[in-house]
Amino acid sequence: MQTQELRQETPAAETNTGDQAFLKLKGITKRYGADYMAVDDLDIDVPKGKLLGLLGPSGCGKTTTLRMIAGLLDITRGKITIDGDDISHKPPHKRDIGLVFQNYALFPHMTVAQNVAFGLEMRGVGRTEARDRVEEALEMVRLPGYGERKPKEMSGGQQQRVALARALVIRPRLLLLDEPLSNLDAKLRDDMRIEIREIQQRLQITTVFVTHDQVEALTMCDLVGVMHRGKLAQLGTPEDIYERPEDLFVADFVGRTNILDGEIEALDRVRIGASVYPCNTRGLTAGKAKAAIRPHRISLTPSRDRSLVSMATNAAHGKVTRVTYIGDVVQYDIDIGGNTLTTEVHTASAGHSFQSGEKLLCEWKPQDMQVFGS
Ligand SMILES: Nc1ncnc2c1ncn2[C@@H]1O[C@H](COP(=O)(O)OP(=O)(O)OP(=O)(O)O)[C@@H](O)[C@H]1O
Ligand SMILES: [Mg+2]
Repeated sequence: MQTQELRQETPAAETNTGDQAFLKLKGITKRYGADYMAVDDLDIDVPKGKLLGLLGPSGCGKTTTLRMIAGLLDITRGKITIDGDDISHKPPHKRDIGLVFQNYALFPHMTVAQNVAFGLEMRGVGRTEARDRVEEALEMVRLPGYGERKPKEMSGGQQQRVALARALVIRPRLLLLDEPLSNLDAKLRDDMRIEIREIQQRLQITTVFVTHDQVEALTMCDLVGVMHRGKLAQLGTPEDIYERPEDLFVADFVGRTNILDGEIEALDRVRIGASVYPCNTRGLTAGKAKAAIRPHRISLTPSRDRSLVSMATNAAHGKVTRVTYIGDVVQYDIDIGGNTLTTEVHTASAGHSFQSGEKLLCEWKPQDMQVFGS
């Protein structure tokens, strides 16, 4: 009985069970010079064992955020805790964090084993234990027995796995990865994505992964924080970010989308060109708007096959202006009275293929059109 009462008094943030925050960023801010806010008041909670992706365009503050968490950069304001432990002003080696950067930064003159052992020596781990832990870390990244090689005798992907082993060997509480795949070619990147995710899940290690690649963020992460000009534009699951973007920047940056200029006519009614479409206007009843529609959410039918339009869908008549064959999909650009809609049809399921100049009916569901006031 008493235990229960005590438990109820414990603040949620300090119990660290289930989905509660393990890594907590509270209002962290980095100002350069007098007034340049590289990172501006970031609040992010990452539950234990989860992978957070920080996604955003070049210069939005991703690396700055990661370096503040690692302790390589002082924070201007805010607080960082890991498992309730305030690390905001601790030196990097006392934070228990593993780091991997874009350019693996292995020491070229050292063997793979010496590279991986580096962090252990710094921490005063004895030789025998270090040898076992290095081998264990190399096994984790599927490079057992590679200890005696030099980095230059390994491929880019292998070197990046060594960098990962070097970060993991210290058994960190938190793993930070800054664009670790961007120096790898496309095929290797796909493999390494799966591999990193597999290792992260196997070790259940809380991880922050920085990327400007939305496919990486959507496919690998439990949570994605989209950053824009130093601020957090949206934090959510990959599905939240893709299906329910909260602003135009997120809708445009994550995944491909058509953005059309329009005008809100009334609640849940937007005018684009000569047509008015039902959609969710997020409570807005007037004013200029931008409407976003994903290419693959638009279905196409030859105009001659359809005269009646269902009330449940939005529809526009248009004419094909460009056909682009991409392999798995064919992209059709369609002029719908002044605006161009880019649409996609999977080649495998394509019942029709359309020609340039052909007249089509484009249809999409009201919920597939995201409208933002502007
Ligand atoms: N030491 C510095 N002094 C002044 N401005 C800086 C400094 N370091 C970074 N910046 C600026 O802060 C902003 C954020 O930089 P940051 O490296 O965090 O971006 P990023 O999101 O990692 O970009 P990228 O995808 O190109 O790596 C940039 O505009 C950058 O020019
Ligand atoms: Mg960066």
